[in-house]
Amino acid sequence: MSEILTPAAPVKSSPITWREGSPILDSRCPSGELEKRWTRHKDNLKLVAPHNKRKLEVIVVGAGLAGASAAATLGELGYNVKVFVYHNSPRRAHSIAAQGGINAAKNYRNDGDSVWRLFYDTIKGGDFRARESNVYRLAEVSVKIIDHCVAQGIPFAREYGGYLDTRSFGGAQLMRTFYARGQTGQQLLLGAYAALQRQVALGNVQVYYNHDVLDVVVEEGRARGIIVRNLITGELHRVAAHAVVLATGGYGNAYYLSTNAKLSNATAIWRAHKRGAYFGNPSFVQIHPTCIPQSGEYQSKLTLMSESLRNDGRVWVPRTPGDKRRPQDIPESERWYYLEEWYPSFGNLVPRDIASRAAKRVCDMGYGVGPTGRAVYLDFSDAIKRLGREVIYQRYGNLFEMYEEITGESPWETPMRIYPAVHYTMGGLWVDYNLMTNIEGLYAIGEANFSDHGANRLGASALMQGAGGWVLHSALYHRGLLGDAAFREAFHRYGGFCSG
Ligand code: FUM
Repeated sequence: MSEILTPAAPVKSSPITWREGSPILDSRCPSGELEKRWTRHKDNLKLVAPHNKRKLEVIVVGAGLAGASAAATLGELGYNVKVFVYHNSPRRAHSIAAQGGINAAKNYRNDGDSVWRLFYDTIKGGDFRARESNVYRLAEVSVKIIDHCVAQGIPFAREYGGYLDTRSFGGAQLMRTFYARGQTGQQLLLGAYAALQRQVALGNVQVYYNHDVLDVVVEEGRARGIIVRNLITGELHRVAAHAVVLATGGYGNAYYLSTNAKLSNATAIWRAHKRGAYFGNPSFVQIHPTCIPQSGEYQSKLTLMSESLRNDGRVWVPRTPGDKRRPQDIPESERWYYLEEWYPSFGNLVPRDIASRAAKRVCDMGYGVGPTGRAVYLDFSDAIKRLGREVIYQRYGNLFEMYEEITGESPWETPMRIYPAVHYTMGGLWVDYNLMTNIEGLYAIGEANFSDHGANRLGASALMQGAGGWVLHSALYHRGLLGDAAFREAFHRYGGFCSG
């Protein structure tokens, strides 16, 4: 630690005392074999005896998948938990927008998956910039997240014989994504919410709705609590705790339009940053390739159309720039399936950044469709012919309905029009292996931290990170199972007050 904190020698005639690339923070990553780090780490953490847990107060800010699952887990463990939520219900969280699924290295299909392969795909999907110890842990815990969710009653899709069904997602060449139609995030969020309400009923957790965090109280380098405003009465309150967990989601709304609801405002992490919490990788913002294009000047947000649709939908534009014919009137020979042509081994399921850049490129070249020319087609006609309407309805019914409600066009009759939009932020508050920021006692989980995804998130791993909250990213995030476990252990280890 002391070695890591030693600054590089100052460069003469420059005010800079740190060299670029100097490790200025201790990630507290365990050493040794990657595969054994998490187990060994847990085995060496101090435990907190039940009678001591009762004396400890934890604040959780945010109740999306990461926050609700972490709060429920901490309540279940016996801590006193207070949850503060900006929204009028925890169910307003952006976790709901992770429609298409959650990854887990179960290898139910025997298609070559393993914890190692999920780890490798995530590291590669993150442009080799993610922290290996964290990512390995995420892949390892993914398996338990699914079991946990099933035990909670999350209605994952199943095969005819009763086995859990899986599908493919962008950037993967196998089928490891578990899903609940096109509303996986919503179902996980309901599971987390149910677990949270159970703890509320037991008296272990108190939830305060419509409360905005105005400040994080930091004293002698340690988080001591928060200042909140009751958005209904305007009253200010100070709330003290032994640990503060921020689970307030990403900062996609820094952009003019994103798939986030406007209330997902991410101000809590900004306030923490102003108190000294570092940001990690803030420029790593995910532009999701398949969203409903902007349709007017007075719109407050955009709507995601799940990446899972690219399992069966084919992306194309007319081969002639500026072609104004209806898509149904454009013959096959005049359609440009540019993803299939440019990236034959992944086809329409190329990773998100590649699909987004390609859509922008063809639109910039003048091939875009729709009134603004800023859209490409996502076409299900082949899949409907091949699989039948019923199968497509089973897989994507709610997404088709949502699309029709918003655009007035039926994807059964005409291809969807889609365009990239800001959806998820891989950057966030810097955290160590225990998901603690550089401020002692202040944690950040789920999308609010910079943790596991590196530069370019692999599809369907956001829910995995969020749900880690149960296990700390989720005992139940995309956004609560891995997260929870990590927090629990972190809490034991680093809360001096926790030492039992
Ligand atoms: O495309 C999707 O269904 C989004 C998933 C996610 O945000 O993880």
